[in-house]
Amino acid sequence: MIEGIIMTLENDKVLIIGGTSGFGKEIAIMAQHKDADVYVIGRDQDRVNELRYEENIQGSSLDAQDKDQLNHYFKKYGSFDHVISMLGGAMAGGFLNSPVEEIREAFDAKFFANLQLAQIASKHLNKNGSIILTSGSGGHPYDASGAIIGNQAINTMVAGLAVEMAPDFRANAVSPTWTPTGLWRDMNSKQLAKQTVDVEENVPLGRVAKIEEVASAYIYLMENDFITGQVLKVDGGVDL
Ligand SMILES: NC(=O)c1ccc[n+]([C@@H]2O[C@H](COP(=O)([O-])OP(=O)(O)OC[C@H]3O[C@@H](n4cnc5c(N)ncnc54)[C@H](OP(=O)(O)O)[C@@H]3O)[C@@H](O)[C@H]2O)c1
Repeated sequence: MIEGIIMTLENDKVLIIGGTSGFGKEIAIMAQHKDADVYVIGRDQDRVNELRYEENIQGSSLDAQDKDQLNHYFKKYGSFDHVISMLGGAMAGGFLNSPVEEIREAFDAKFFANLQLAQIASKHLNKNGSIILTSGSGGHPYDASGAIIGNQAINTMVAGLAVEMAPDFRANAVSPTWTPTGLWRDMNSKQLAKQTVDVEENVPLGRVAKIEEVASAYIYLMENDFITGQVLKVDGGVDL
């Protein structure tokens, strides 16, 4: 290690919004192994309890799209070194065949939910802290309209936030492509297997990501103090 550069999460206070499943849960476990002080948020109380029981990670059940609940949370738990957001979902359907409401909902859940979070969380960051949002790769505008616009909006937002929050704070995003996580818990095993094969055929690296591969990108972005405004794609080259 170069003298004077400390790349560690030891004793850093890390909040993972959406840390009870999928990528977020893995980030929580990895950060805890690096001796960070880890906090997670999810809506489902059972999953929050499970994480406490299985991994001894403390969590809170709340809807992080709700401004009042978020403000209350930060008031109670104070400021953090890093705030990570998994807010956002997915949608299938193009621009012409999808109800406007559905596209609006997908965009709201991705862009406005994270914008609101960034506005609140940026007031509760310790010096040299960072915000990391979650974007997305793959898919096409013609069959994932609202989701694609949401991802593009996240990428644009982190570029703006990075400058607005500098020099004391950083903002970045991680962009995974389709990965089997809790996001797809409503798919049955046959649907999951078919989707996995479809993705594998379209990804240059020929497979889907391991959840750990995506989670490690957030750890890297937390630890490296000279990266800001970037979208780190962990997607096997799907858009190439
Ligand atoms: N997996 C993929 O294929 C893929 C691909 C590209 C991008 N992404 C992006 O990755 C993120 C999802 O991560 P994931 O795939 O790991 O899904 P996941 O397993 O479903 O995890 C999502 C986490 O976020 C929490 N969450 C969602 N909405 C919340 C809210 N309003 N308030 C509080 N907690 C909330 C969930 O807990 P509760 O459900 O209990 O609230 C859960 O802990 C999304 O931003 C998605 O767009 C995923």
